[in-house]
Amino acid sequence: MPEPDEIGIGLMGLGVVGGGVASALLDPESAISRKVGRPVTLRRVLVRDGSKERNPAIPRELLTTNPEDILDDPGIHIVAEVIGGDQPATRYLKDALSSGKNVVTANKEAVAKHGPELMSLAHQNQVSLLFEASVGGGIPIVGCLMNQLLANDIRSIRGIINGTTNFILTRMAQDHSSFEQALSEAQARGYAEADPTNDVDGIDAGYKLSILASLAYHCRFQPDDIYRQGISSLEANDFRYAGELGYAIKPLAIASYSHGAVCARVHPALVPLDHMLAKVDGAYNAVEVEGSLCGNVLFHGMGAGRFPTASAVVGDLIEVARALAGGPSSPPVTFAQHGMASDGTATVGVAPVDDLTSKYYVRLTVADRPGVLAQIANILGDEGISIASVIQKDSDPEQQTAGIVITTHPALESSVQKSLRRVRVLDVVREVNNLLRIED
Ligand SMILES: NC(=O)c1ccc[n+]([C@@H]2O[C@H](COP(=O)([O-])OP(=O)(O)OC[C@H]3O[C@@H](n4cnc5c(N)ncnc54)[C@H](OP(=O)(O)O)[C@@H]3O)[C@@H](O)[C@H]2O)c1
Repeated sequence: MPEPDEIGIGLMGLGVVGGGVASALLDPESAISRKVGRPVTLRRVLVRDGSKERNPAIPRELLTTNPEDILDDPGIHIVAEVIGGDQPATRYLKDALSSGKNVVTANKEAVAKHGPELMSLAHQNQVSLLFEASVGGGIPIVGCLMNQLLANDIRSIRGIINGTTNFILTRMAQDHSSFEQALSEAQARGYAEADPTNDVDGIDAGYKLSILASLAYHCRFQPDDIYRQGISSLEANDFRYAGELGYAIKPLAIASYSHGAVCARVHPALVPLDHMLAKVDGAYNAVEVEGSLCGNVLFHGMGAGRFPTASAVVGDLIEVARALAGGPSSPPVTFAQHGMASDGTATVGVAPVDDLTSKYYVRLTVADRPGVLAQIANILGDEGISIASVIQKDSDPEQQTAGIVITTHPALESSVQKSLRRVRVLDVVREVNNLLRIED
């Protein structure tokens, strides 16, 4: 029998993150109840496979494969969802909120795709909904955008929010590995899934950026509003040439405000070697927020992993439990009043990437003969693009080709794309190997 003042928790999912959350909730030393001021008890844990051996070992009687055991239990006040993916997790989240339960989730896909609907449900049912772990694992960026940075107009968010791609690019930069070799190593170490598409194509970072941008700009960003360029076209040469130019290549997620609209994009970019983001290596994450009052603030830490992510989930659980412990006069902790919850309150528009002004790095393979550069420079000039530097790289005498790297002064993305369409069909151009943006 639960104690009369007990706050009951139902955990959905007992994998990497769920295992960490269960450990914290079952650890008598963790003092969660003391921090809340009332007993907090893990009452039930939903898993898919009830016969699996569990690490940590969980009392057998807590495990269930039936979601109703959590959704219909009146002794469960907070549901912590760490199953992941769109369905069935989103259905469970909606059912929990609709039945008056508070919800904490780590599920970026559910929040990115269905955030406003979930928040409206939380608001209608006067319950809490928190999702700190959905972006940046153990880094407290979601709560800061919701609360501590609220005084600011957010000028930009620039971050490395996918540890898998950062690990791959770090390996390529440090060991001169190919993309395929670095990906295999990431898979062998458990950083990348067998099907790495979500990470390498920027889908995962796109979900996270749509959450951050929605919170920062009080506007609904759908995952489809985010421009995405994956990392699989990068080659060892790009890292070498970028280094010679004074840059690292990093997998960035960027939302930047300009003239009433926000351009949100996920792509690899050249970052000056002395910039803090250039030094964020391996599986680490970092997010730099530029606010009108606070200036640049950098959040850095473990963006994934059992315990860093459990830190964010359990932190949310404690916050919600404290609100419950405060009694009926204590309002639920939600973001339902925020612009993200309502399509009508959007204050900014979504700017297409075509409107972006940036510096660019272009790597081409061309015929090794005189006059080639002049033809390319003429096209760029026609489109109003000013060249900052041109470096001729390794010649291939057998193929009679040479590599060239061009960097530009700030130029309009649509003009750059148009000029490259023209450059690509020149008979002296063998290949446009890569186009990368330079984030100075
Ligand atoms: N892993 C990280 O470092 C990390 C970091 C930040 C955020 N997140 C987010 O945290 C969430 C969980 O990630 P994870 O890495 O812990 O996932 P995971 O290791 O794959 O664990 C998923 C858990 O959910 C259970 N489950 C899956 N489908 C289910 C279903 N249909 N019904 C009931 N239970 C089901 C699984 O049960 P079985 O154990 O029986 O298979 C497993 O216990 C995701 O939203 C993820 O994006 C993860």
